[in-house]
Amino acid sequence: MSEPVASSSAAAPDQDLLIDFSGVRLVRDGRTLVGPVDWRVELDERWVVLGPNGAGKTSLMRLAAAQVFPSAGEAHILGEVLGKTVVQDLTARIGVSTAALAARIPEDELVTDLVVSAGYAVLGRWRERYDEVDISRAVDVLESMGAEHLANRRFGTLSEGERKRVLIARALMTDPELMLLDEPAAGLDLGGREELVARLDVLAHDPDAPATVLVTHHVEEIPPGFTHAMMLKEGAVVTQGLISDVLTAEALSETFSQRILLEEADGRYFARRASRPGRRRLQA
Ligand SMILES: Nc1ncnc2c1ncn2[C@@H]1O[C@H](COP(=O)(O)OP(=O)(O)OP(=O)(O)O)[C@@H](O)[C@H]1O
Ligand SMILES: [Mg+2]
Repeated sequence: MSEPVASSSAAAPDQDLLIDFSGVRLVRDGRTLVGPVDWRVELDERWVVLGPNGAGKTSLMRLAAAQVFPSAGEAHILGEVLGKTVVQDLTARIGVSTAALAARIPEDELVTDLVVSAGYAVLGRWRERYDEVDISRAVDVLESMGAEHLANRRFGTLSEGERKRVLIARALMTDPELMLLDEPAAGLDLGGREELVARLDVLAHDPDAPATVLVTHHVEEIPPGFTHAMMLKEGAVVTQGLISDVLTAEALSETFSQRILLEEADGRYFARRASRPGRRRLQA
């Protein structure tokens, strides 16, 4: 398959519109993995994408990261249309943290090198020396994720929670316009999840932070500062819009194919399955 390509949009791009998908669909082996999706993400928005296993969330992120191009529809990302020229410039403007990326990191990779090398879109240190300014930026982004003390550790020795924070720091390294986080809280314990949610909440409130899309299975992982949500089921959009409008028990029930109860407290969300009427409780 040829590399994803992009061309400048014919019309003057709207600077505030980072993602603009119209009828976008990703098809593999005759099967639609995600789509058709109409989706617009603006500069100051922080999105969460929710959906069960296999719903198409990672496929949507791969499209937004310009790692694949649509099988149908039109995808504008950062003012470029996925379609005609090589997208290297585009990918440098998008910070990504995914399990697929984590799996490719050598165990003996030094954390500082891993973060610094994001600026060169490579894994593994490939220069003898980086500029002072790069190192200082790496320290700053590690600090913003509470991970500065890990700078001289090898990636393979980090706990799951530490890895996630380092990967987000790496995604921030290039000062991207768009940040895509695919299940950043997967595998974290309660404390680790809460720590990460708090860090993402701080980022969400920072006007200089990139527009962010966070993929998760759990409403408990939505940081309070997040503004918008999309729910996906079997590749199709169930609902999308302002979290306050679309994050409802009904929409979650539809998305996860079971009756879900939803509670909110202090800007956080909590979901559980509704118990069946007449069902006896387990005795203690
Ligand atoms: N390259 C591919 N070729 C064929 N099918 C694929 C490919 N990539 C993904 N799929 C399928 O597309 C569907 C959506 O996958 P995707 O990884 O986007 O789901 P997801 O919502 O991220 O799921 P999860 O929550 O488990 O990570 C799945 O059924 C998956 O098996
Ligand atoms: Mg996925």
